[in-house]
Amino acid sequence: MTGATQDGTARFVANAIRGDVVPEHFREAEGLKLSTIGLGTYLGDSDDATDASYRRAVVEAAALGCNVFDTAINYRCQRSERTLGAALRDLESEGITRDQIVVATKGGYIPFDGAPPTDAADYVRTRFLERSLFGREDLAGGCHVLTPSFLEDQLRQSLENLDVETIDIYYLHNPEAQLASVAGDVVEARLTAAIEFLEQAVADGKIGFYGAATWNAYRVAPESKDFMSLADMVAIAQDVGGDGHHLRFVQAPHNLAMTESFTTQNQGVDGEDQSLCQAAESLGVHLVSSASLAQGRLTQGLPDWLGKLFKGFATDAQRSLQFARSTPGFTSALVGMKSVVHVRENLAVAGVPPARMEDFLKLFEVDSSEG
Ligand SMILES: NC(=O)c1ccc[n+]([C@@H]2O[C@H](COP(=O)([O-])OP(=O)(O)OC[C@H]3O[C@@H](n4cnc5c(N)ncnc54)[C@H](OP(=O)(O)O)[C@@H]3O)[C@@H](O)[C@H]2O)c1
Repeated sequence: MTGATQDGTARFVANAIRGDVVPEHFREAEGLKLSTIGLGTYLGDSDDATDASYRRAVVEAAALGCNVFDTAINYRCQRSERTLGAALRDLESEGITRDQIVVATKGGYIPFDGAPPTDAADYVRTRFLERSLFGREDLAGGCHVLTPSFLEDQLRQSLENLDVETIDIYYLHNPEAQLASVAGDVVEARLTAAIEFLEQAVADGKIGFYGAATWNAYRVAPESKDFMSLADMVAIAQDVGGDGHHLRFVQAPHNLAMTESFTTQNQGVDGEDQSLCQAAESLGVHLVSSASLAQGRLTQGLPDWLGKLFKGFATDAQRSLQFARSTPGFTSALVGMKSVVHVRENLAVAGVPPARMEDFLKLFEVDSSEG
């Protein structure tokens, strides 16, 4: 199974819009069609029951028009990657082939294997340090590493867990975690080495594109310790890979309660202050939102005026997803869903186009005190 292709994702769209899904539910990025709602696999226990739930949820989501699936090697002790791999095989047997699906994963955090070990220090020593995948000085916060040897090992393991030949998007997972332990110039050198490895992984056909999946990095004020400049990261990719570099996707949290990516002009590009949404567009990078429901908190109790702006939706989860997928600059909004009931509720939004820009902007004009 190679990765997502132009033809494959176009076939996925053609099948989806034969049902209740509207064509505007898909956006193009790097020639691929991506659903504006993607399924994430972060939350949940590391047990067989949660594996089974996610496996069913992925299959149901694909049937309802979702072809973006996001995971990370450390999620649920590698179980989320392994479960997504099993679900991809289920889909294959139902005729939804690998080339129709965009598979994203992340490396950077030391992953446990199936379950947390009884002795974490011994686990890190025997699994990683003794294999010289990194030294103690490379370890940030006791759990985060970006050395090329570690990333090579992690990518090999992710390919095995997912049971795929190619991962479409490989993210460095929260690279800002490094800034807690070492100075900015050291992080820059580490990112350069990581990006050299990732460009080589693209050349080897192991990944399609790469980027960073962040929590604070691109969202916080420039003076914050964990701030990162997207332009600086793209400049590194350009130095390493030229204009044809493959740093093309970035993930950041974005939802009704965390709007900074759209509203804060914290990213400088060519001397101009821009929001992350603007900077990504200027720099040729596609944005994917994470935590689109603020980890479940935006599924009830939204104020009535939001309901009036997002007409035609039955639930707050749907309104919240409509906000995230309609934000100018975002290609796809990830939502964690292991419940098939949530999958059906959330993917009903795929039957409606994202809000038009002028309607979306009305959100920021409302006097919310009007109730
Ligand atoms: N730094 C990073 O790289 C980073 C950080 C955070 C997230 N992410 C990615 O983004 C994805 C989405 O973020 P997230 O999973 O943290 O949070 P989220 O999508 O904001 O929320 C997921 C939670 O909402 C619940 N939910 C989903 N639909 C619902 C509905 N219709 N009604 C009520 N509850 C509903 C889910 O329950 P069920 O699971 O039971 O259905 C789950 O508990 C992650 O899974 C991950 O792939 C990346």
